[in-house]
Amino acid sequence: MSTMNARCGYAPWIAGSLLFSSFAFANLPPVIDSIADQLVLVGSAVEIVVIPRDPERVVPGLTISDMPNGATFFDNQNGTRTFKWVPSTSDVGSRLITFEAIDALDSNLRATVSITVTVNASSQPNQPGIINQAPRVEPLSDRTVQVGESVSFRVVPVDPEGVVPALSADSLPAGASFDDNRDGTRQFRWQPNDQQVGDSTISFTAFDESVPSLRSEETVKITVTPPLAVAPDNPDTPITPDDPVMEGAPFFVGLDDQFITLGDTLSLRVVAKDDDGSVPGLSIDRLPERASFKDNGDGTRTFRWQPYPIDLGDTDVRFSTIDANNSANRTFQTIRLNVVRDSNRVVNFPPVINGIRNPTIRVGDTLAQRVQPVDPDFTVPSLSALSIPPGSQLVDNGDGTRNLQWLTDAGDLGDTQASFRAVDSVDPSLSFESTITVSVVDPSTFARDGERLRDLADRRGFKIGYAAVLQASQLADSQLYRDIAAEEFNIVTPENSHKMGWIQPQRGVFKWEDADELANYAEQNGMSLHGHPLVWFSQLPAWVQLLDPSNAQAVMREHIRALVSRYRGRIAIWDVVNESFEDDGSYRNSIWHKGMGREYIRDAFVTARQEDPNAVLIYNDYDVAWKNPKSDAMYSMVEQEIAAGTPIDGVGFQMHLRDDFTEYDSVERNFERFANLGMDIYITEFDVAMFNGKNDELQADIFRRVMEICLRQPRCKALQSWGYTDRYSWRSNHEPLMLTDKYLPKPAYYEWQRVLRDF
Ligand code: XIL
Repeated sequence: MSTMNARCGYAPWIAGSLLFSSFAFANLPPVIDSIADQLVLVGSAVEIVVIPRDPERVVPGLTISDMPNGATFFDNQNGTRTFKWVPSTSDVGSRLITFEAIDALDSNLRATVSITVTVNASSQPNQPGIINQAPRVEPLSDRTVQVGESVSFRVVPVDPEGVVPALSADSLPAGASFDDNRDGTRQFRWQPNDQQVGDSTISFTAFDESVPSLRSEETVKITVTPPLAVAPDNPDTPITPDDPVMEGAPFFVGLDDQFITLGDTLSLRVVAKDDDGSVPGLSIDRLPERASFKDNGDGTRTFRWQPYPIDLGDTDVRFSTIDANNSANRTFQTIRLNVVRDSNRVVNFPPVINGIRNPTIRVGDTLAQRVQPVDPDFTVPSLSALSIPPGSQLVDNGDGTRNLQWLTDAGDLGDTQASFRAVDSVDPSLSFESTITVSVVDPSTFARDGERLRDLADRRGFKIGYAAVLQASQLADSQLYRDIAAEEFNIVTPENSHKMGWIQPQRGVFKWEDADELANYAEQNGMSLHGHPLVWFSQLPAWVQLLDPSNAQAVMREHIRALVSRYRGRIAIWDVVNESFEDDGSYRNSIWHKGMGREYIRDAFVTARQEDPNAVLIYNDYDVAWKNPKSDAMYSMVEQEIAAGTPIDGVGFQMHLRDDFTEYDSVERNFERFANLGMDIYITEFDVAMFNGKNDELQADIFRRVMEICLRQPRCKALQSWGYTDRYSWRSNHEPLMLTDKYLPKPAYYEWQRVLRDF
């Protein structure tokens, strides 16, 4: 799992699409939706959509550091970016990549997420289903050679799967050789004679020996010129017979610090050279927000950036250049971009309206769509409606935002557009327009066949649940969201509102509103409430991140006491400790572990039990549902805690799965061993992200099999999914849940219904 930090004093975590009218005027820091660590095979692509969010809906800046060579970090033009990388053999190993979101209005407010990307060679076991891809030849640059001189270069084949491809040469000129260097590469050598003046094109083919049809070619043009009559010390003279072929690192030419005046766009051509004449690769590790680094198609790239007022001051960017023949040879250069304001010059950027998703609501529901204009100049734009549905109104929230309020009736059925205009408060000629489509549909659109999941579950004494978004009452479609949840589930977990960063922003200052709202909602709808989590390493408030570990115990106990006592008798199950282990089974070096060692686990359970003797107390973690070093470590921990008399009642298995999941037998046996310890079993955060293209049937099958395993295991008490509509999921790009983003049932929904009914 990724590590997440927010450098700020305010609540760092917000689920998708939330409204913050209760925080008028406070600028909250942005957050980045959490990102799982990635495992990727050489030659396969890893692709991550990085989604920064800002409570104020000001689109935050987004940067990446330690971007691997060859990776890209595309601007999706919707506030998100996509990190994409196809690692090669030389990238095998693990690396940390950090994404940072920067508040658009206050660059001191930032949040980072670091993930580990592990690249495995594909010969590793346990990685079935890998497509064998064609090998390729590392790019070669054309060259010129004089009669009498020689040319020599290495031809490097690479195979995405990490095997050494075979290599052949076509149309070798007379007298040329192509020798095996005994390291998987071959050396091309040629000393042309005066009969060979002119262009020769040679092609090199890399092919997979086991599947020779998998091949690709690289051609190089060698221009042979007649002997020159100039002195050999001319610096432009090409390689002479005495010059060794240089294999040194490439270097930048004329790359320097830059001044940029606000309002200007910097356009900087980045050029690197290599003594051996090959064209080196170019990359940048930290592309400033709104900057680009385009390939000019001639071996150079252009860095282009128009800074905003938020960028005033220094920004360092690091470029690297990589030897085309040996990726280990690289040179880094950091330049400083100093953005200054010219006081004689008026610069004014146009405002924007933050992206709004088209809402769908039922006839009879009230739409409450918040619209927020922002201006890069930090001024507050005015917002007006160009056209809004008849009967709706644009209500001023008093904080620069407005709400489109609309109580719909049967006459409103269908799609209606609403258009807004933000006008710059300084220069009224600068404006921005945004249009959304509001779909008002008949409530029967959302009808689901058969019985409701909660009724089926109630009959079996089983809990079926979901994680509720933060501040569900303020969603544009909150009535629909809350009604469907209440129809389908008999248990609910807050996705964020119990997290320490949210609920205790300052020591001893508790912000209960959102947790209270959910507790009330659960009670009104006869649902159990599952608290989550009391002790975790992530989503901590800044003051805890800065805490001296010697205070960790006191702080942890205060926090547990405050939450558990407040909801005594109202929260049935508590995730007391969340995610204590690293993947290798070692203890995570959290503030709690730093302060107390592994004893913090016992301490937390004991403290929770003192505050509520009747709540079910569980330990919760991810990637522990099947047997692996981490679940083994968790097993020993639970065993030891039981022996020590720690009041632990059960284990929560998160189960954030992907569509390539196959470990069912292992899950079954793993659940058994925990059940045999006397632990109750909860599947706490189930979802199935689709990474290999949309495949609802495959997803439904995973839903079905996990539900069956749970129902077969007498100690498995609940299956809770981490959200229920793809519209509001922490992994919504991968559509991991049982209803679509339009709240329509997917096959996964009907599989759960069927299994709960018939199994
Ligand atoms: C996630 C929430 O779903 C997101 O809204 C939030 O931005 C980050 O955290 N394991 C946990 C959950 O225990 O609390 C996490 O929830 C997902 C992983």
